[in-house]
Amino acid sequence: MKLIEEIGELRERFQVESAGVGDREALERLRIAYLGRKGAISMLFSRMRDIDAGQRGAFGKALNELKIHAVKRLDELKAELGEDAPAQEVIDLTLPGRRDFIGGRHPLTTIMDEIIDIFRGMGFTVETGPEVETVYYNFDALNTPQWHPARDMTDTFYLDVPGGKPLEWLLRTETSPVQIRVMERQKPPIRIIAPGRVYRNDKPDASHSPIFMQVEGLYVDRGVTMADLKGTVLAFYRAVFGPDTDTRFRPHFFPFTEPSAEVDVTCVFCKGEGCRVCKQTGWLEMGGSGMVDPNVLEGVGIDPEVYSGWAFGLGVERIAMLKYGVDDIRLFYENDLRFLGQFG
Ligand code: DAH
Repeated sequence: MKLIEEIGELRERFQVESAGVGDREALERLRIAYLGRKGAISMLFSRMRDIDAGQRGAFGKALNELKIHAVKRLDELKAELGEDAPAQEVIDLTLPGRRDFIGGRHPLTTIMDEIIDIFRGMGFTVETGPEVETVYYNFDALNTPQWHPARDMTDTFYLDVPGGKPLEWLLRTETSPVQIRVMERQKPPIRIIAPGRVYRNDKPDASHSPIFMQVEGLYVDRGVTMADLKGTVLAFYRAVFGPDTDTRFRPHFFPFTEPSAEVDVTCVFCKGEGCRVCKQTGWLEMGGSGMVDPNVLEGVGIDPEVYSGWAFGLGVERIAMLKYGVDDIRLFYENDLRFLGQFG
């Protein structure tokens, strides 16, 4: 067959095959079959040299026309099939899904709810009080003497309130003022907890934040003893940290309790063996407690000869840090989604 006829035949074959192209893959196969390095058109070009010099011109022209036609047709088909032809799109069903953090409970809220739940179960009701307090509720009524360091400007955020006296208003430094507010309006028996935010003028570091949370506890009735305090606190910490937890009361001083004690719990990391976190003591300091000072009861009109009571205060972040293994209190207040997302 003459080469020039082969060109005509090839053109017809291309015509038929290109009409059957339905997707990108078939298109690519067609391109390779005709225009690839070893494709049919390319092969004919390589046979140019076998042709008589006299016919070479006509052959070359016909072949070029076919090539141009094929390139154009392939371009058209490509445009017809579109960039993202379905057959081209590969969906890997084995890939894990991508999840966005759509929000969740703050770890402090979760811990706070857990704490409240435990005390509710023991018969305590929940009371709240204002975060903007007066010196009277935050210090005076709590039997805190004028010389007490907590009153210092360096520890307390005092507020300028229109119509208020200087050093009269402040951001409460503890949840203890709620004790006073409750005892002013309610007579024994009183069995409450007061969860909430408190503020101190502390420089932030891994264990200090100018804003943090406490839970106050108060129980006042006839015949309330320190044994009740120890039993309640032990039951609470066992509920939080597990049944193997023990507590230890160390003598301390708080203006509003007498006697006062600091409460330690068995180190949650070494279970009392002694480790770096508990500084080899086996104990972790958790908060303060004591028997309500008779002066405090008298101040709110409760007769200390008839009634007695105990109180405690604990830090919520401290519990959250121990339970979740968080080593920097500031993380709770920075609202970094990489941190919060771990609790969602
Ligand atoms: N208010 C104390 C503080 O912030 C904690 C505290 C200690 C509260 C002893 C009490 C208590 O109710 O009895 O450091």
